[in-house]
Amino acid sequence: MIIAVTNQKGGVGKTTTAVNVSAALALSGCRVLLVDADSQAHSTKSCVKDPNSNEKSLYDVLMHPEQKIQAAIMKSTIPGLDVVISRVSMAKLESSLLGQIDGHFRLKDVLEPVRERYEFILIDTPPTLALITLNALVAASHLLIPIQASYLSLEGTDDLLETIEKVRRVANPKLQILGILITLHDSRTNIARDVVERIQRVFGEKVFHTYISKSVKIEECPAYKESIFTYAGNSVGALQYKKVAEEILKRAKN
Ligand SMILES: Nc1ncnc2c1ncn2[C@@H]1O[C@H](COP(=O)(O)OP(=O)(O)O)[C@@H](O)[C@H]1O
Ligand SMILES: [Mg+2]
Repeated sequence: MIIAVTNQKGGVGKTTTAVNVSAALALSGCRVLLVDADSQAHSTKSCVKDPNSNEKSLYDVLMHPEQKIQAAIMKSTIPGLDVVISRVSMAKLESSLLGQIDGHFRLKDVLEPVRERYEFILIDTPPTLALITLNALVAASHLLIPIQASYLSLEGTDDLLETIEKVRRVANPKLQILGILITLHDSRTNIARDVVERIQRVFGEKVFHTYISKSVKIEECPAYKESIFTYAGNSVGALQYKKVAEEILKRAKN
């Protein structure tokens, strides 16, 4: 299963979700690869000890597909979780691949040789619908869409759904929405309740039963290069991300 964690809005919890869901799946015994496709490299920085010690990153592999993706894979601080690291060079991808006929298929192609080695591959995408995100949508079998439980959070989902439809039509007919994850949820506010209702009206059964609450512990753990499970294993956030991983495992079986 190749899951792209995507939403072109920034700050909705894509990276946090990509790292912690990957960690939960790895801790449950699955072999997991996290692909950091964002030039900000937040996933990389959240769970890889010394990413600068590795010469190659995702950009190099995408630009020179004859090179093996293994060159950009590092061990994370989480047992069982490998990471395809990213660097700021990813920001050049769009212009570097301009006019390349296979520009949208590079990520799919480079992942092919390692697909069988991992039960789950998660792709953390940048806050845009540009070329790198399209690469992720073409490479993915499933989408995990985090939506923040706040005002205007559904703005832009029409564009995302339209893009998904286009990708299905021209490149990846089997692409499915695995689930919508409500993030940064604050149960004390009326606005959160309204937004959750609206999200459920739009996406129905696709919405995960578990919501991720706003939590200081979740916000803190990247600074220590830890997942929520080692940083605050008994916290609400740890329990919620564990439950989301369980929902994913259940949906993966169907
Ligand atoms: N559940 C949460 N509770 C508190 N802070 C969160 C939570 N999820 C994410 N954050 C924080 O919000 C910011 C944006 O989250 P991030 O995962 O980087 O979003 P994105 O990748 O969509 O831009 C980060 O500072 C992150 O630590
Ligand atoms: Mg991010």
